[in-house]
Amino acid sequence: MSTVLKFINVNKNFTQAGQIVEVLKEINFDINAGEFIALTGQSGSGKTTLLQLAGLLDSPTSGEILISNHHVFNHQQKIDDKNNTQLRKKNIGFIYQFHHLLPEFSALENVAMPLLIQDINYKEAYRQAREILNEVELENYCNSKPSQLSGGQQQRVAIARAIVGKPKLILADEPTGNLDNELAHKVFNLLQQLTRKYQIACLIATHNLELATKTDRRITLRSGRIIESN
Ligand SMILES: Nc1ncnc2c1ncn2[C@@H]1O[C@H](COP(=O)(O)OP(=O)(O)OP(=O)(O)O)[C@@H](O)[C@H]1O
Ligand SMILES: [Mg+2]
Repeated sequence: MSTVLKFINVNKNFTQAGQIVEVLKEINFDINAGEFIALTGQSGSGKTTLLQLAGLLDSPTSGEILISNHHVFNHQQKIDDKNNTQLRKKNIGFIYQFHHLLPEFSALENVAMPLLIQDINYKEAYRQAREILNEVELENYCNSKPSQLSGGQQQRVAIARAIVGKPKLILADEPTGNLDNELAHKVFNLLQQLTRKYQIACLIATHNLELATKTDRRITLRSGRIIESN
């Protein structure tokens, strides 16, 4: 099976008020194509930091990270920023707790955006965006601005935006953290169903342990170390 994300002995330190804080310690794991994985652990255990590294938004202090078998970071050296941006655009989708949609653009424009920045032509980008909005049952809301949508609808647009480019991996940081329990289950199920359909691997940080049990596997952090990966 192909590996979409691999961490090898990854460490991440931050410097705070002159002190070095070790936030991630000796992190090792693999994610295979199409896997749906929960990332759990108490507040401050390092989940967001790990997702930032996996998403190439920050670099580790040491260790190696591979995305679809490409070395992204190797022994503290950023291989190539331009390459990493290309890798990120092609391979990774993001979903956050707060939808992070662009407020002045419609749902359709927000979903088309990842394709447009990959230089896919306007007509094709909008066709694909419409198709995915249909899959998240928002075909009647294409022209709505984020402020005109409910919290659950905004998160469904955010899911559509992460999926539209058919990345190999989606990184989601508490995507249901802002929703009530019933809606959280609905949005989570939708994410699971669509990522399965398109064989997209998904790593989801969540505090909701009930949702975490619905995944294929769980990676749990405690104080920056993996204590459980099954
Ligand atoms: N830029 C930074 N500078 C200094 N310390 C940081 C920075 N970012 C995160 N940290 C520290 O790293 C630790 C892990 O933070 P992180 O945000 O990854 O935790 P988390 O598991 O996502 O928590 P939560 O569940 O509350 O979102 C915390 O102690 C935090 O204070
Ligand atoms: Mg976090």
